[in-house]
Amino acid sequence: MTAQEIRFKNNNLLLETEEDSDHKSTHMTEKQTLTMIAAAAKNNALGKDNDLIWHISEDLKRFKRLTSGHAIIMGRKTFESMPKALPNRTNIILTKKEDYQPEGALVVHTVEAALALVKEDIQPFIIGGGEIYRLFMGNCDRIELTRVHHDFEADVFFPSIDTDKWTIVAQEDISATDNQPYNYSYLTYEKK
Ligand SMILES: NC(=O)c1ccc[n+]([C@@H]2O[C@H](COP(=O)([O-])OP(=O)(O)OC[C@H]3O[C@@H](n4cnc5c(N)ncnc54)[C@H](OP(=O)(O)O)[C@@H]3O)[C@@H](O)[C@H]2O)c1
Repeated sequence: MTAQEIRFKNNNLLLETEEDSDHKSTHMTEKQTLTMIAAAAKNNALGKDNDLIWHISEDLKRFKRLTSGHAIIMGRKTFESMPKALPNRTNIILTKKEDYQPEGALVVHTVEAALALVKEDIQPFIIGGGEIYRLFMGNCDRIELTRVHHDFEADVFFPSIDTDKWTIVAQEDISATDNQPYNYSYLTYEKK
């Protein structure tokens, strides 16, 4: 698949709107779980040339299922890698640019301001990219990591997960198929 084909297929799935969310937070007496969600290769590759490197439709559908109805915090570069704000989610963009005014998204300039905006959400998500994952690693309670068991050439990488601090609480292994050439695993990490 060419980079253009990967971009086209990923964007189609990310922007689908037919499946509205049932996941809106209604249990604010529970403790908030700030969750980082990412797909990273064996070598921690996340992206290249400000785009994703692979197309795994089941993973994008899972991303959409988990994040719909919630706040999603992302870096300015990740936001600009997508055609527009993701539907059915509160899009929050972190940037140092004072005059940044993207359509369909809220803008913040600090980690603290981002966290203040999501305090009413039982499960806000940090959706990348590399800089933003690094920035929020200390604040997060859970990581939903899709580990693609293959090395890719990349220019942005997921930070290493400190196994003294994080433990895997769920794992699902998915095998490659004719349509999808990579073995991958859904790994849920929680802070010890
Ligand atoms: N595989 C995955 O799961 C996944 C998920 C998301 C993204 N990606 C990929 O990751 C790549 C983008 O990641 P990236 O690391 O280059 O960029 P990024 O993390 O998306 O955004 C970086 C930008 O965030 C802003 N920022 C960073 N630290 C900040 C701070 N302390 N305060 C305020 N603003 C701050 C800055 O924006 P300004 O420059 O505007 O100040 C900075 O340029 C793309 O290739 C994308 O496709 C992959």
